[in-house]
Amino acid sequence: MQTIEYVRALRETIASWRQAGQRIAFVPTMGNLHAGHHSLIALARQQADRVVASVFVNPTQFGPNEDFARYPRTPREDEAGLDEAGCDLLFRPTVEEMYPFGTERCVAVRVPGLTDELDGAARPGHFDGVATVVLRLFNMVQPDLAVFGLKDFQQLRVIEYLVRDLALPIAIVPAPIARDPDGLALSSRNRYLSVDERARAPAIHRTLLAMREAWRAGASFERIEADALRHLDDQGFAPDYAQIRRSSDLAPPTGAGDEALVALLAARLGSTRLIDNLPFT
Ligand code: PAJ
Repeated sequence: MQTIEYVRALRETIASWRQAGQRIAFVPTMGNLHAGHHSLIALARQQADRVVASVFVNPTQFGPNEDFARYPRTPREDEAGLDEAGCDLLFRPTVEEMYPFGTERCVAVRVPGLTDELDGAARPGHFDGVATVVLRLFNMVQPDLAVFGLKDFQQLRVIEYLVRDLALPIAIVPAPIARDPDGLALSSRNRYLSVDERARAPAIHRTLLAMREAWRAGASFERIEADALRHLDDQGFAPDYAQIRRSSDLAPPTGAGDEALVALLAARLGSTRLIDNLPFT
C-alpha cells in the first residue's frame, strides 16, 4: 500500500490506474480505524479493482466545543490496518492541502433541510463541514464508487443528496453497521468510555431493539420515542434524541403502511456522545 499526502501525487497514481481501465473505490475516514472501517474497505474491495482510503480529521465538521483537538489520531496503526484490509492507497493530506485558503475562507457547500435536524440540530454546521470535505475528497480522488457506513445514517443520506443534487458521477454504497458482540456499534469515540460506561453503553442498541419491538406491537410513534428517552435517562444517559423517521429521506413518518422506517438515537454517556440506528424491517 502506498501512502500519499499531496493531491498531485494522488492524481498521478490514480491516472495510471484509470489508463489501465481499473475501477476505483473510495473510503473516506477520520482515522483511528477499527473493524467497522476495515469492513468498508473489504466491501470496496469486492466492488472495484483499486481501493483508496483517506484519513483526515476534518476541522470544518467539528463545533467550537467539540473534540477536534482530542480526536484520537493513530497514524501507524491506521496504516497497518488498512494495508492488511486490502487498501491500495492511503491518502493522508494535511489541513493546508485540503484547505489551501484556510478553513475560514474555504468554499463550502450547504445541504439544506436534512442537515438541520437530528444530529444537525445537536451539532450546527456539522453536516455542511462533512459535505464540504467529502466534495473536496471526491474531486481529488474521482472514484467510481464510495462506501459509507450505515452507522452514520444521516451522514449517508446527506452524501446521497449531495451526489444527486450536484450530479456527481459517483455511486454511493452503504455498508452495514459493525458491532461488538454485546451490540455496541463500533466507533472511534468508544475509546473515551470508562470501564463502567463501556459496560452500560450497549443500552443504546437495546433501546433501539425495544423501539422496534414496540412498533411491531402497534405502539404509537410518540409513545415509543418518549419511552426510549425515559429509558435512557433512567440508565444514566443524557439523550439528545430518539426518533423514528422515514428511512428514504429522514422526514417524519406519515404512518402509511408501505413506508420504510428507521429509529435513530443519540445520547451522551459521561462526556462521550454515542449515536446508533436500526431499520424497522
Ligand atoms: P469516520 O467517523 O472515521 O467514519 C468513516 C466511515 O466509517 C463512515 O462512512 C462511517 O459511517 C463508517 N463507520 C464508522 N463506524 C462504523 C461501524 N461501526 N460500522 C460500519 N461503518 C462504520 O464519518 C466520518 O469519518 C467523516 O464524517 C467523513 C465521512 C470521513 C468526513 O470527514
